[in-house]
Parts: sequence; structure tokens; C-alpha cells
Amino acid sequence: MGYNMSKSSGVRLFISLFFLVFFVNVLPGAENKPIYKDPKRPVEERVLDLLGRMTLEEKIGQMNQYSAPLTSEYAELTKKGRVGSFLNLVGEEKNRAQRFAVEYTRLGIPLIFGLDVVHGYVTIFPIPLGMASSWDPELVKKVVSIAAKEAASDGIDWTFAPMIDIARDSRWGRIAEGAGEDTYLSSVMAKAQVEGYQGEDLTDPNTIVACPKHFVAYGGAIGGRDYNTVDISERTLRAVYLPPFKAAIVDANAGTIMSAFNEINGIPATANPFIIKKILREEWGFDGFVVSDWNSIGELLWHGVVEKPVEAAYKALKNGIDMDMSGNRLDDSTSGTPDNMYQRNLDKLVKEKLVSEREIDDAVRRILRIKFKLGLFERPYMDTSRARSIIKSKENIEAAVEIARKSIVLLKNDKNLLPFSKKVKSIAVVGPLANNRRSLLGPWSARGDSSDVVTVLEGIKSKVAPETEVYHAKGYDILGSSTEKIDEAVKVAKKADVAVVVVGESHDMSGEAASRAYLDLPGVQQELVKAIYETGVPVVEVLMNGRPLSISWSAENVPAIVETWFLGIQAGHAIADVLFGDYNPSGKLPVTFPRTVGQVPIYYNHKNTGRPANTDNKWSSKYIDVPFTPLFPFGHGLSYTEFEYSNLKIDKNKIKNTGEVKISLNVKNTGNYEGTEIVQLYVNDVVSSVTTPVKELKGFKLVKLKPGEKKTVKLTLTADQLGIYDENMEYVVEPGIFEIMIGKSSEDIQLKGEIEVL
Ligand code: NOJ
Repeated sequence: MGYNMSKSSGVRLFISLFFLVFFVNVLPGAENKPIYKDPKRPVEERVLDLLGRMTLEEKIGQMNQYSAPLTSEYAELTKKGRVGSFLNLVGEEKNRAQRFAVEYTRLGIPLIFGLDVVHGYVTIFPIPLGMASSWDPELVKKVVSIAAKEAASDGIDWTFAPMIDIARDSRWGRIAEGAGEDTYLSSVMAKAQVEGYQGEDLTDPNTIVACPKHFVAYGGAIGGRDYNTVDISERTLRAVYLPPFKAAIVDANAGTIMSAFNEINGIPATANPFIIKKILREEWGFDGFVVSDWNSIGELLWHGVVEKPVEAAYKALKNGIDMDMSGNRLDDSTSGTPDNMYQRNLDKLVKEKLVSEREIDDAVRRILRIKFKLGLFERPYMDTSRARSIIKSKENIEAAVEIARKSIVLLKNDKNLLPFSKKVKSIAVVGPLANNRRSLLGPWSARGDSSDVVTVLEGIKSKVAPETEVYHAKGYDILGSSTEKIDEAVKVAKKADVAVVVVGESHDMSGEAASRAYLDLPGVQQELVKAIYETGVPVVEVLMNGRPLSISWSAENVPAIVETWFLGIQAGHAIADVLFGDYNPSGKLPVTFPRTVGQVPIYYNHKNTGRPANTDNKWSSKYIDVPFTPLFPFGHGLSYTEFEYSNLKIDKNKIKNTGEVKISLNVKNTGNYEGTEIVQLYVNDVVSSVTTPVKELKGFKLVKLKPGEKKTVKLTLTADQLGIYDENMEYVVEPGIFEIMIGKSSEDIQLKGEIEVL
């Protein structure tokens, strides 16, 4: 065919072109489905494609997060594409909000829904400090995956967890939310939790994306006062506070991270290039997104590092905060704290060329990446029928009992008072927490319902023989001050063969904004314990609390003490299992118990100092009025049986700085009960270029043994674990002698050896 096309062929060509264009571009499901909508395309291609289609307004929209309730204002903003995420919206409300995003906006970008799923969703497990007492990362991973599955079935895509702040100060209420004072144990728990939430594949409808928090060093709040200033050296930051985050981000691949409220050495964490740009992005290569904590961008004004809201938005954006958790306000008229910083200021900043669109693109790319990875574009809505079969399933409840039992720590058991016989004739169960439901859920109990909680009284009643008399008296309230009601409890105790006194804190005495200046039993509970003790009836003290308590009087006088933290909905059964010997406790403390608040911060992995504490030497590092030792040390926890350690073997006594040693030892159960021992490996770097702790946990193993049984426990220690941050803040493994200690706790060292790094 030449240039002179006939009229009819021209018409034919026009018609075919018309149809081609029509089918390709107009008909639904046509072949030119945008790349971003095609799940077969790689995530990065989809992100790029979508970003290329977005207006500046739509991009900034992705960077805002609001909290429930879904007000008409939020609905309108969502329909305009000005919202990227909600927190605290679940179930049908989630679907309603999602519809506004998916069906009303031009590009249909789904919202991501977050919630604090910290230790269970509806099936509530022990608080994280309790779970850490199990020293069982496999089990923690399992229960966390159950929490993820329950939450996902109710529309949650994203949890603000795990909380992995090291806490050396038990006045700080948020110590309840983490794994305690130790860097190694916290790192192991951090990894287990991220893996539990995220599973193998985020598109799996049973998984949710994790958000380790709070980046970083929030637990270093001076005086243990929540939100307070943090002033620590870079060495302490790197050696103590950062490793759990590295484990969560680098080893377990967490998709998001939350910046902390606090400042670190003069620079707020929400505008801190050193921690976010240098450490998180450059050193660790993190490509997920950073969300601020609740209005922490606005709070830059109160930190006093900016004068105007627009500067707060500018600083946060420039320093790597991708999403503004704005809370639930659209202006600062009610709170007085400027909030909604990104929504109100980013457009202006770009228009004035103070922020480039490329910087906005970088943040949005990271947010979209997670949305694609979660499969939200394919599965934006929750399937309302799923939750029913998943939430509180039989399997989930069984896991709740299992982890609750394993989180219990037997602190003291003189003359083997425990376990009780189930045939005991009568038992008094007294104290303000003996029949309490709400507190056993602990802080941050997501959608937990106190009516699901089994109390200690109920647990005991369901355990004992039918003819056993169970008497109960509350005594008084947790914070009660009058001692009148003690008489009633004393009367009940006097009638019984044995007494269980259940005391501690209420759920809201730990967690956020719940720091305490005293660590004693609140109210007049210590009086109650004394009164019951003075009846002469054998007493067991059951503690419930979100932090170590200074219970020196009890430690000295009460024959048996059981630490149960807040164990969740199956608490009562788990505690009864332990009290009556159906379960032999194996938990070990993830945190030091002080004798008095004046010793705080007290932690096992302290430095030696130039004047190591010595009772016989006044001029050594100690107090004149209180011993320098803890009440109960890190790693402490008894069993109903006895374990004998022997035969330490280290396969080499010299290694290169890239090598490793295999350590083995025998543990024998020499008592009468089957039991699990948690064998702990500590190391001391004897001489190094900078000071190092007197000992540090580097590994542990759980070993289950029948009476009389002996097993060989094997541990591996790599030279890399022996590194330190030197004078130039380089991580180096220095040559020298390292002492190897194997213990039942950080103080009860059973076997010792040494190796030399060449
Ligand atoms: C503030 C808390 O610090 C943080 O841990 C939590 O995730 C957010 N609020 C959202 O609830």
C-alpha cells in the first residue's frame, strides 16, 4: 500500500484504532491495567509507577496518620486522598474508612491500619516483661504470631510493637512493655517478636507488619520519669540500647520503626539525623518507613528546638520521619500542643522550595513499599467472617496458658513450702489482686476483655480437691490506705491450713505515663502481708506487677514468693498450676530487683569502676546505708527440683578474632520433679582498651530434665560477640583473655573457664 490510502481503508484503520484505544484504555480489566495495580509486578516497579502518577497533594496525604474515632472530618480528608493511615480503627470501622480511600480517591491507594498489639489482641498473653522471663524465644514467636493472626483477622495490618527499649530503671513504667535490662536477651526477644508478627510473607492474611519502638534510648529517661531527657554516651547507646533494634531491623527485617518522644544528648529522636539517617538508614540499610510517635513532631516545639510549627515539620522531614502520627486532633485548639504537622505544613514547605519534591518522594516511596509488601492493594478490606474462628480459638487459649506458666518466676521457696498438695484441707486466698480481672490484662491490652480473665481465686478453686475449703477476702483495694479491712483477711487466713496473699500493682500503674517514685507494694499491702504472716499460717506471696518491686521485708520473712507479672487471660490457671505442682516453674528474671528504690538504676552488667564495691572497704563504690547487692539478681529463678552443673568443656582455648568456640557442660536433675533449667552463659572481657561490664550475657539454653536425668548442654560463642566500641567508636574484637561463666543466674555462677582471642 502506498501513501494514497483509499477512503474505505482509511475508515477501517480509524475504526480499528478506535477500538484498540477503547479496549486498551477504557474497558475495565483491559490490558493496560496500571503497573501499580498488577500484583505480578515487582514491588519496586509498582511503587515507581504509582509515585509517577501522584500529585504533590496525594503524596503528602500518604504521610499523615490519624487515630480513631473516624469523624466526619477524617472521612472527608480520606476521600480527598489526604490520609495514609489510621490507628485504633478496627473491624467494620476499618472497612468503612478503607472504602473512602479505595473507592473515592483517584488512585485508590489503600490506608494502612495500625494498633498497639503488644502482648496479644483478644487472647491476652503475659506482658512482654513476663514473656521475657520465659527466656523462650520460640514460644514467644509462637504467641506473637497468634496475636498477629487475631489482629489481622479484625482488620489490623500493622502493630506498634515490639517495644524493645532497654530499661535499667524500674521506676520507668514502660519497663513492663519490654524485655528488661539486658541487651542480649532483649535482642533475642526483639527478633522473635518481629518474626512472629511478620511471619514468612507479609501478604499472608495472618501476618502484620512490625514497628519496633521507640527509636531510641527512651528507657534511659532520667530518674525513670516518663518522657524525660536522655543523656547517654554514644558508647552506651551503641553497646546497650541499639543492638535490640539492630536485631529487629537487620536480622528480622522489620518493615517500619517508630521514633521516640525523648531527646538524646540534646537532639530529639524525632529530628535526629545521627540515629535515623546515619545509623538506621546508612549503617543498617533500612528501607522501610519511620513513623513518629504520637505527635512527637509537634512536640519539637516543646523541646525548644524550633519556634514555629512549620519548622517542626521541616526538621522532622529533613531528618527522616516519613509518617506523622498526628494523634486525634486536627488543630491545636484543644490540647495547646501544635499537631497535624505534616498535613498543615508540607505543601507550603515544598511550594516555598524549602523541601524538595524528591524528599517527599523518598518518604512516600517507603510508605508505599510497605503497603505493596502487605498486599493491601489486592486485599484492602478485612473479611468480616474470619475473625470469629480465629479469635480466642482453643489453640490460642492453650498457648496463653503455656506462656503464662513459663513466665512465672519462683523467687523464694523456703523449706519447699511449694508446691501445695491438692488435698490441702483449707486454703485462704486473700489480697486485692486475688480475684481481680482487669489488672491481669496489664497495660496495652489491645482488645482484651477482662471478662475473659481467669482470676487466681478461680484458678485455685478449679484445681483443689472438691472437699478443700477455699476462703477469700480482698483485704482492701490496691491503693487503699485504711487497714481496717485487714482484719477480715486475717480472720480468713486463721481458719486455713495455708494462705496465698496476692498483692502488687494495678494494670495502670505501669506502661506509658505510669512512672513511680517508690517501688514498694502500693498502699498498705505490705501491712496486709505482715498481718497474714503473723497469723503463723504458712504464707505464699503471689506478686502481680509491671516492674520489679522492692519487697525486702517479704524477701526476708515470707517463706515463698512467686512473681507472676500480669499474665493475661489465663493467669489464674497458670498460677494454680504452679502453686499445686502441675507445672514446675522455670522462669528467670529479665531484670534486677532492688532492695530499695535508692539503688536504682541497678543492673547486673555494670562496670567494675576503679573502686569495686567491697563490704570491708569504706572507700569503695557502695552505699553506707544499704548493701550494694540486689534483692534478686538478673537471671534468678528457682525450681521445685535441683540442678547440678558439671564438666565444662571449651573446644579451644585460643581463637582468632573471626573464630568461635563450642562450649559444653552437663546438667543433671538431682531432685524429685521434672523441670526445665535455663543455663546462662556470661562473659567478662578481662582487659580491654575501654572499660567493659563485669559480665555480660552472651547465650542461654533451656534444658528439660526428668528426675535423675543428665544432659549435655551445648552453646556457641563467636568472637564477634566479644567486640567492643573502642576509643574511635569502631566495633573491634580485641585480643586478650575472656572469662567464661556458666550460671543459674547472673550471680549464681556454677562453672568457669577462659579463652584467649589472638
Ligand atoms: C504513644 C506511645 O508512646 C507508643 O508506644 C504508641 O505506639 C502510640 N502512642 C500509639 O498508641
